[in-house]
Amino acid sequence: MLRKWSLNDKKALAKLCNEVDRTFLSHRMTFPYTEKNAEEWLEHIEKTEGVDGVFRAIVFEGKIVGNASVEKMSDIRCRDAEIGYFVSEEFYSRGIATEAVREICEIAFREMPIVRITGLVFGRNIASQRVLDKNGFVLEGNLRNAATKNGVSDDILVYGKLK
Ligand SMILES: CC(C)(COP(=O)(O)OP(=O)(O)OC[C@H]1O[C@@H](n2cnc3c(N)ncnc32)[C@H](O)[C@@H]1OP(=O)(O)O)[C@@H](O)C(=O)NCCC(=O)NCCS
Repeated sequence: MLRKWSLNDKKALAKLCNEVDRTFLSHRMTFPYTEKNAEEWLEHIEKTEGVDGVFRAIVFEGKIVGNASVEKMSDIRCRDAEIGYFVSEEFYSRGIATEAVREICEIAFREMPIVRITGLVFGRNIASQRVLDKNGFVLEGNLRNAATKNGVSDDILVYGKLK
């Protein structure tokens, strides 16, 4: 299930962000991820929830095992929003991300005035591509070698889902 993040989740969020496999994540999430980082993010999303984005903890058997969010873009892309998600490795391949993406898209289309959701995925991130495929996202393009992480370049696949 998904539930809103609360300011009380500081410890759990910091633990999760330090555990998660970052191979295919952007550098936006700092490492190490301190409780102070967690507190600042939780305060930020409390202010922007429902306006600039929807942010949910993924809870499995009572434990926070991941995050799913959809964040609105700006300027001419103000009715487009980007999806992001991750799950703790211990809980991979149980359909958790697939269900979380289904639910967060439903929430985002209901609560924000957006007409599409964009997913940007590394070319080598097959599991994430599968999650989007299973949720009706369409592969729209390939930004060849557009992402560089640890000195290695990879494609960014552009996926889209319309309201
Ligand atoms: C991507 C991620 C969220 C998937 O989470 P998950 O809960 O394991 O996903 P699901 O179980 O819902 O679905 C994964 C699918 O990918 C498949 N898969 C996993 N690894 C695979 C691989 N190497 N090759 C092919 N398929 C693979 C699984 O079999 C499953 O498909 P299926 O249901 O058809 O069998 C998780 O791996 C993760 O958090 N990765 C690190 C962060 C990240 O990459 N986030 C996405 C950024 S765009």
